Amino acid sequence: MSNNILITGGAGFIGSNFVHLLLSERPNWRLVCLDNLTYAGNLANLADCQGQKQFQFVMGDICDADLVDKLIGDNVDAVVNFAAESHVDRSILGCQEFIRTNIEGTQVLMDAARKHEVEKFVQVSTDEVYGSLGEEGAFTEQTPLAPNSPYSASKAAADMLVRAYYKTYGFAAITTRCSNNYGPYQFPEKLIPLFVTNLLADKKVPVYGDGLNVRDWIHVEDHCRAILAALEKGRAGEVYNIGSDNEKTNLEITHLLLKLLGKDESMLEYVEDRMGHDRRYAIDAAKAKNELEWQPQIDFAKGMAQTVQWYIDHQPWWQEIKTGEYLKYYKQQYGKTL
Ligand code: NAD
Ligand code: DAU
Repeated sequence: MSNNILITGGAGFIGSNFVHLLLSERPNWRLVCLDNLTYAGNLANLADCQGQKQFQFVMGDICDADLVDKLIGDNVDAVVNFAAESHVDRSILGCQEFIRTNIEGTQVLMDAARKHEVEKFVQVSTDEVYGSLGEEGAFTEQTPLAPNSPYSASKAAADMLVRAYYKTYGFAAITTRCSNNYGPYQFPEKLIPLFVTNLLADKKVPVYGDGLNVRDWIHVEDHCRAILAALEKGRAGEVYNIGSDNEKTNLEITHLLLKLLGKDESMLEYVEDRMGHDRRYAIDAAKAKNELEWQPQIDFAKGMAQTVQWYIDHQPWWQEIKTGEYLKYYKQQYGKTL
């Protein structure tokens, strides 16, 4: 199977966890990580990978067609595309970068991958492309796409482009659609790391609306193992839903975090709801389990306790993000300023 892999967005949350997984479980693979270090990319996430001979970091944009062509032309067997603007609230404030990176970037990557005949292209998508569920049921791969935020609309557009490249050119692309991830290295703008780091700093946690929106949580390591299984065993042109059957309301998550951190209800603050806030997501991952021989392995209660402990043990990591000091890594290395 492929052993020269281009991983885009590898300095972000899920991408860096994927790099760590491959370095430990596929030590003979050569990994090239392409990331342009937006606010969400952080070289500290890859600190222990730098210097390993099978790992190379390239700072660059997936929309840069010349750079992408050069990297993929250099003997790359497969591409795993994590690079994206990923935060719904930011997409509501303005979505130009979402359209550029999430749609145009995917097209640039696929054109180069097609030209150089890569064996496989894994598009890391999201369950949010399906829109919002009522009280019952779960998203299957047959659920019609109905994205509700500018973020999810940009991901759905990219998914349609991936589908079209498979149908038109026979391009060997696989799409994965996963539910909400939690775990180490998640940028503290997302629900769980925001709330944990606020509570550790004795700050209140802002619950949107009535707090009864439901998300289906999966540990990032289980997601990364599913992506690896899709890369190794997935069929071209197929979509695989990934999830771990852990539906929780945001209030349930908030109460669990208050308990794990020894805080009381007074730290919870209801704030104005997110515009267009999807009510409920739930994933039916039967196809991935059957075809990819993959199973989530991390128990939710244990995974959450370990995750909270990780943020307790890595205060400098998130404090540098909150103060903006983390930008020093690319200022030092690349002279880039924001
Ligand atoms: P993230 O925001 O933590 O990381 C995104 C990474 O992409 C960053 O390192 C950033 O610097 C990089 N990037 C952004 N624009 C780029 C560009 N133009 N060129 C090169 N690099 C660029 O995101 P994440 O949470 O790790 O999500 C990764 C992927 O997984 C995304 O495609 C997202 O849609 C998808 N996803 C996320 C979740 C979740 O719960 N976080 C769930 C399902 C799917
Ligand atoms: O479902 C997969 C998606 O999960 C990914 O595609 C996205 O990239 C990822 O950001 C995530 O999207 P969500 O919008 O579900 O995640 P977020 O952490 O922003 O919010 C989770 C829930 O918590 C959601 O119902 C909104 C709510 N929330 C969020 C924040 C940041 C709050 O109540 N307060 C907050 O401060």
